[in-house]
Amino acid sequence: MTVQESSYRVDALIAEDIDAYLALHQNKSLLRFITCGSVDDGKSTLIGRLLYDSKMIFEDQLASLEADSRRVGTQGANIDFALLVDGLAAEREQGITIDVAYRFFATEKRKFIVADTPGHEQYTRNMVTGASTADAAVILIDARKGVLTQTRRHSYLAHLLGIRHLILAVNKMDLVAYDQGVFDDIVADYRAFADSIGIGDFTAIPISGLAGDNIAAPSDHTDWYAGRTLMETLETLEVATAVESDRPFRMPVQWVNRPDLDFRGFSGLIASGTIAPGDDVRILPSGRTTRVKRIVTMDGDLDRAGAGQSVTITLADEIDCSRGDVIAAADDPPQAADQFEATLVWMASEELLPGRGYWLKLGTQTVSATVQQPKYAIDVNTLAELSQKTLGLNDIGVAEVYTDRDVVFEPYDTNRELGGFILIDKVTNATVAAGMLHFALRRSQNVHWQALEVTREAHAGQKHQRARVLWFTGFSGSGKSTIANMVEKRLFALGRHSFLLDGDNIRHGLNKDLGFTEQDRIENIRRVGEVAKLMTDAGLIVLTAFISPFQAERRMVRSMLPEGDFVEIFVDTPLQVAEARDVKGLYRKARAGELKNFTGIDSPYEAPETPEIHIDTTKESPEDAAERIVKAILDDWSPTL
Ligand code: ADX
Repeated sequence: MTVQESSYRVDALIAEDIDAYLALHQNKSLLRFITCGSVDDGKSTLIGRLLYDSKMIFEDQLASLEADSRRVGTQGANIDFALLVDGLAAEREQGITIDVAYRFFATEKRKFIVADTPGHEQYTRNMVTGASTADAAVILIDARKGVLTQTRRHSYLAHLLGIRHLILAVNKMDLVAYDQGVFDDIVADYRAFADSIGIGDFTAIPISGLAGDNIAAPSDHTDWYAGRTLMETLETLEVATAVESDRPFRMPVQWVNRPDLDFRGFSGLIASGTIAPGDDVRILPSGRTTRVKRIVTMDGDLDRAGAGQSVTITLADEIDCSRGDVIAAADDPPQAADQFEATLVWMASEELLPGRGYWLKLGTQTVSATVQQPKYAIDVNTLAELSQKTLGLNDIGVAEVYTDRDVVFEPYDTNRELGGFILIDKVTNATVAAGMLHFALRRSQNVHWQALEVTREAHAGQKHQRARVLWFTGFSGSGKSTIANMVEKRLFALGRHSFLLDGDNIRHGLNKDLGFTEQDRIENIRRVGEVAKLMTDAGLIVLTAFISPFQAERRMVRSMLPEGDFVEIFVDTPLQVAEARDVKGLYRKARAGELKNFTGIDSPYEAPETPEIHIDTTKESPEDAAERIVKAILDDWSPTL
């Protein structure tokens, strides 16, 4: 087909037009897929070819493409499709940078969204983003090169992310003279690898993106190949929503729709199963049951709705249900737990910090979570389990994840919506990992919090005081211990019950297994936070004197305590001053390189932004500071005590 002969139907190519485009093809099923390949495998050419063969290219873009192809020396109607796709990407990227480019095209039978995942360094991240909703992955192989490390890596990820259909597109067959032997060897090679990682089935197709062989029409050059073309394959694969519909009903609540007092609907995307008015449902994590009253949509009420549809459900009873809850089949609900094993794909250049608090987003639920030291990382080439203390960029590993409250979940391989999550850095807000839940740890279901009858308030009341944590932070040698000591002496003299936890002392006992790496400091503060909290439960005023250099952990301890009970005291001594004093001679050693990871020298200190009390030790004596602290907390004393 030459360019002149073809008639163009301009539907949509860019993301902004997706609604109009999808409306046009409303009654066709939608298949989402990703393409995986390295730079030279011909990914852009293949996508360009798919768009071109389904006539989804703007006329003016074709004209300029022809001109470009001529300029770069491509002959005749042999358009360089890579130029097309790269050109579109460049256009879009002038505005904002999109990591994953979604392209749309349609044939008579079906409509498609293809996630093109560019990037090298960030490849894993892009691929995870594109793959998380994909029904199929087209794994491109250069017929001249065969199965490469990248092929294995992409296939492993695609399988891990639960993509049901893998299509092995053995490309550039024209460059190996359409040799069946080459194709068969590659397929045999790939099958061995696929078997080893549990990929049961895949479809292999000999193609040439450039020449168009077996893309939209069967090739004359491969009469030894009796299978479907790539386009036919994509047209006939089973889409995920068809499978999800047969599973039990689950809908994560995105928002509560309450336009007036008479209407209270719960809106969300149905993750699996189907639902009809009158069905019994259970709200999780509360476990309360009720019945579906109506299924409301923009176009009127429905008799039934299923996986992949966005709906608003109203319930027969006024029961508690809010964003993040899951509405599920009453007799077959998902579980809720706060400790899991999961596979993590690390996507940030900053390493995982075991023990550090991250936001975990799963479906519409957001909770605070920590990740333990990985059980192992996976070498994607050999599938060996590596022992690693942490995970770095593009690492894949298995670790335990603890959340600060129950999340409703299902194993990822049963339900991607309720089993897939991301981790977000609390300070930078960047997505640092994608995770796939395996199962809840049994201990999380068997260890229940013991409700104590003599409460925290009772303990404090007996001592006629309000229990709190006075959290001193600052450089080594800033004066934290000195001031904390003075405060405690004054409180003692006033008949208050207190206890001082001091860095140097705790590190001789409870925390003697910890050093000064970032990870150890996080664990140090986590333990101290837990101990301080227990002591406030016993009704004590707890003073802590630790460098506690990281905002994230100070914030974590704050969040463990009731509002107002964490008093952050910044002992603000400039580094030069602390170093000049050098009471323990440690700064000298650190400067001499004899002491590693010393705060302020080769390890960071993140000063509090809004501490409750700020002490500038260059302006205020320790005695005055102590006096001011005692006054501040006593002034603010609860009047009932
Ligand atoms: S924290 O960073 O984990 O909060 P912590 O307050 O417990 O530190 O311990 C700090 C004390 O340990 C310092 O006052 C100092 O006496 C001692 N120390 C030994 N090595 C280091 C180091 N590399 N960095 C900071 N303090 C160190």
